[in-house]
Amino acid sequence: MDYLEIEGGNTLKGDITISGAKNAALPIIAATLLSDKALTLDNLPNVVDIRTLLKLLSILGGEVTHHNTTAHINNHNITSTKALYEIVSQMRASILVLGPLLSRFGECEVSLPGGCAIGQRPIDLHLKALEAMGAKIEIKGGYVHAIAPNGLQGAKIIFDKITVGGTENIIMAAALAHGTTTIVNAAKEPEVVQLCEMIRDAGVKIEGIGTNELSIEGTGGKTLHFKPVKIIPDRIEAGTYLCAGAITYSTITLHKVNHTHIRATINKLESMGCSFDIKDESITIHPASLLKPVNLITLEYPGFPTDMQAQFMALAVMAKGESLIEERLFENRFMHVSELNRMGADIWLKGNVAAVKGVDVLYGAEVMATDLRASSALVLAALVAQGTTHVKRIYHLDRGYDNLEGKLSKLGAKITRKQEPWVERRKQQ
Ligand code: UD1
Repeated sequence: MDYLEIEGGNTLKGDITISGAKNAALPIIAATLLSDKALTLDNLPNVVDIRTLLKLLSILGGEVTHHNTTAHINNHNITSTKALYEIVSQMRASILVLGPLLSRFGECEVSLPGGCAIGQRPIDLHLKALEAMGAKIEIKGGYVHAIAPNGLQGAKIIFDKITVGGTENIIMAAALAHGTTTIVNAAKEPEVVQLCEMIRDAGVKIEGIGTNELSIEGTGGKTLHFKPVKIIPDRIEAGTYLCAGAITYSTITLHKVNHTHIRATINKLESMGCSFDIKDESITIHPASLLKPVNLITLEYPGFPTDMQAQFMALAVMAKGESLIEERLFENRFMHVSELNRMGADIWLKGNVAAVKGVDVLYGAEVMATDLRASSALVLAALVAQGTTHVKRIYHLDRGYDNLEGKLSKLGAKITRKQEPWVERRKQQ
């Protein structure tokens, strides 16, 4: 198993390029199932989650060629509508094939994803909405069995809670449904917006893009012909590197970013004393003279993203004073707290609120990555810790960060990917 060895205490400097957004690419890859014609996706990040979903498409019978940041996909000859546990268990976002498979083929089986480190993460809202569109759904043997023999029907869906994946699944289901679907309390994350734009550009009438209420006129079963799609920049990757600049008191420039998507992150970094030069597609962070504490609450877009909570926890640890961080979206998204405390942080948890007392120094340690964003918080802490940190279980990082150690090394960080000795020994045998 790979781990990262990080020598703390180096100032960073220079430029890096932000990759395409994993969370935009995943629903877009799933949406290709709405078409039986070839299409090209560009600016895909080189991360495991993307390869996993492309593999799922191939298993279903899709023709996929994938090189670097480009995939050519043709789902003309889909031979199976069953998304197996073996794939869905590797990546929850595989549930995104449910809406498109059901609306195109009138039936599908998708393994239930189950919980994960950050919480239970049910899909009840996805299923309830599909039922409102006429689907018959049964849960059997760990699978969602869904049928809609006469196609899905447009319906008014009112989500009890804002759900990104639920909104995306229903947008895709609605695209081929009969009649108009209205989604009230829809998510309006940039990734949802790009999915809507892709489907709109294929001729589906969608109103309310970028708002909490969407209206989608389905094609009544006619498959779509997509134009090529260039994936938007990853706002969480960008935010993570801004935090790397902030925590190491470094000036760094990010290219190929959309700064409007990272407004909430920029605002919080400004409140901590950092400043920014923003140009069209690039952003330079100038460090604070002394990091101030921060109070934040995670919310749906355009609020402060839950996917940046762990990274800001690492920053708060090194700030001068006390910070309060409240997690409102996922009940268990504080797994990084105990690992940060093992490095010398002073964080107290009560329910979904973390009280963080800034410390003067962190110490390198053996730490364990527990989920994707928690892992990046440990990397950030390691960049400023005294001595060497080993971040274990970095398969979490590989799911969502494109070449993290390469990009950080380019900025001057001392970070190396290594293998557990037993893996090296086995290779030599
Ligand atoms: C997506 C993102 C993830 C991000 C999250 C919130 C992808 C691949 N992942 O996850 O990185 O952290 O949005 O911005 O885009 N919920 C229910 N029932 C449901 C669905 C959701 O109760 O049927 C709850 C969840 O448990 C959670 C909240 O709603 O508490 C928001 O979840 P949701 O927006 O659906 O997150 P994901 O789409 O899974």
